[in-house]
Amino acid sequence: MNLNDKIIQLFENNRNSYISIKYLSEKVNKSKKIIKENIKDLENKGYMFKKNIKGYCLDKTCNIISKPGIYLFLNNYINFDNFYIFDEIDSTNLFSKTLNITENNYSLVIANSQTNGRGRLGRTFYSPKDTGIYMSLSYKCKKDMINPINITSIASVAVCKAIEKLTGKTIGIKWVNDLFFNDRKICGILTEGLSNSENGYIDSIIVGIGLNLSTNSFPEEISNIAGSLCDSTISKNEIIGEIINNLDYYLNNFNNSDFLEIYKDRSIILNKKINYYINNIKYSGLCVDINNDGELLVLNDETKKIDILRTGEITVRINKE
Ligand code: BTN
Repeated sequence: MNLNDKIIQLFENNRNSYISIKYLSEKVNKSKKIIKENIKDLENKGYMFKKNIKGYCLDKTCNIISKPGIYLFLNNYINFDNFYIFDEIDSTNLFSKTLNITENNYSLVIANSQTNGRGRLGRTFYSPKDTGIYMSLSYKCKKDMINPINITSIASVAVCKAIEKLTGKTIGIKWVNDLFFNDRKICGILTEGLSNSENGYIDSIIVGIGLNLSTNSFPEEISNIAGSLCDSTISKNEIIGEIINNLDYYLNNFNNSDFLEIYKDRSIILNKKINYYINNIKYSGLCVDINNDGELLVLNDETKKIDILRTGEITVRINKE
């Protein structure tokens, strides 16, 4: 850990108390002068401190994503092969594809804004500065790990649970992986598999998550569907930490039937009439179930038969008529 990170760690660990330059200098074994310079440096990076006779305290409105800030909320120590936090990047998923990832560790890429956030079906994901979380967690598939087709649903539940824990808000999942709050899409998930150049099999997975915390204006074309949690007070480090805890838990302790219950409980389309589009052809029907493979079973209005919808090239709209 570099000196800046060590000092951030001490401030994040002591969120509500004042700490002195002397204490910091002893803890990191550097002179008071160097500590003061580092604090200035942090202020230039946007950190805000309250000061009094006892020393410095992180201002409670200070909500900056940092590695030590995230570590504070991880249930288990996690070793990351790569850990990047960008102020701005084209896409955290794209960048993740350039990383060298190894067997046993995750890689994590987070950005405060994206200029080319990517969504499903070739869409873009609006990722304005500071009002959302844009992150990608990637890992190498291992034989005993869960089937990649379940990852997308796992990621939806991981994010739902993190939001619910921190805010108490009820979040809904629109199959397969859009999260809704107050009838608006607040989170999108793009899972991508990278194949091994030698045998063509998928050997690593990138789970990209875009969560709107406080974004309150959206481009015209998505303004009637996109929304946010309308909450700028949620600790970004804490919600990222919780999302990682949940992902890590489900990736390593996956029990399909328990999991499916949790997923279905949050579904906003089960037992609802939907329109669905396959290759731009519109169908309508009643959602009757989600099966063990995460597929959606729809009773087709016209054929009166069950259509099995897999992820991929399918768009689902809740039929409000
Ligand atoms: C969708 O709603 O279609 C999926 C959106 C996924 C957006 C996230 S933001 C972080 C990661 N990087 C990207 O470029 N996309 C995903």
